[in-house]
Amino acid sequence: MDKDFDFDELAAKFDRILPILEPVTERIADHLGPLTPGTELLDLACGTGEPGLTLLARNPGARLRGVDAAPAMAAVAAKKAAAKGLPDVRFEVMDSLGLGIEDRGVDAVVSRFGVLSLVPDPRVEAREVARVLRLGGRFVIATWDAGSKNIVSYALAAALRPWLRPPVVAALERQEHFAMPGRREAWLSEAGFADVRSELFSWSVGFADEARLWAFADDPMFLRSVAGDLDTAQLAHVRETMFDLVTEYRQADGSYRLPYACRILWGVR
Ligand SMILES: C[S@@+](CC[C@H](N)C(=O)[O-])C[C@H]1O[C@@H](n2cnc3c(N)ncnc32)[C@H](O)[C@@H]1O
Repeated sequence: MDKDFDFDELAAKFDRILPILEPVTERIADHLGPLTPGTELLDLACGTGEPGLTLLARNPGARLRGVDAAPAMAAVAAKKAAAKGLPDVRFEVMDSLGLGIEDRGVDAVVSRFGVLSLVPDPRVEAREVARVLRLGGRFVIATWDAGSKNIVSYALAAALRPWLRPPVVAALERQEHFAMPGRREAWLSEAGFADVRSELFSWSVGFADEARLWAFADDPMFLRSVAGDLDTAQLAHVRETMFDLVTEYRQADGSYRLPYACRILWGVR
């Protein structure tokens, strides 16, 4: 099947983007609050282990269950946990549309750029989160907001547009539709959550110069997965278009400071 984002293919190099996303984990931790020992935390669509592993390190005695649909992503996460010798952690392959977890089986749920973003009908995911979370349990979910709020990925996607594979174009369009104000909040309320709230959380990412920003954008494995193989002329076009779109974020010393923003949702079962 022609997939949109093939996370199994991206797993080996996925961690290169984790430093950029760290501020989001901090904010998720703020909204989640401290976890008492014994708390079972579910990290949904955990990828290579975040934000679950960071939250576990901050909350000794809590237990972490990370689940992801891509076996290669979950395998990277499991390797990290094993390397750190972490007890009370398990990473499993599971689809957020049908979780193999019993009703009210977990005490808290987090997800960073996993649920409510990637599947065609996120209402099903909202209902699954409501099903597995115990009454009184808390969830905190970070999702992308409008594409243009994330300058790097927006500029890169715009520059790649002539070559983006159709399923990727469709997935980006869907994300834009999901980000319409109030939609995700409504899905969570309809699924049974009380006191659903959200905020637009903003931060910025710095690159010392154009070469470093391009080195980040020009990752062959990522580009191939979304746009197929690009030749030298096509890559030159991508670079020129992308840098034109980010000109306003160039500082006097040649560095770049690029705004990012996401929507964080939280509430109680
Ligand atoms: C953008 S990554 C985020 C990974 C991680 N949470 C992080 O913030 O670093 C999205 C993850 O969602 C997973 N995913 C996509 N669709 C899924 C589904 N239906 N069920 C479970 N995981 C899914 C992907 O495999 C990928 O690991």
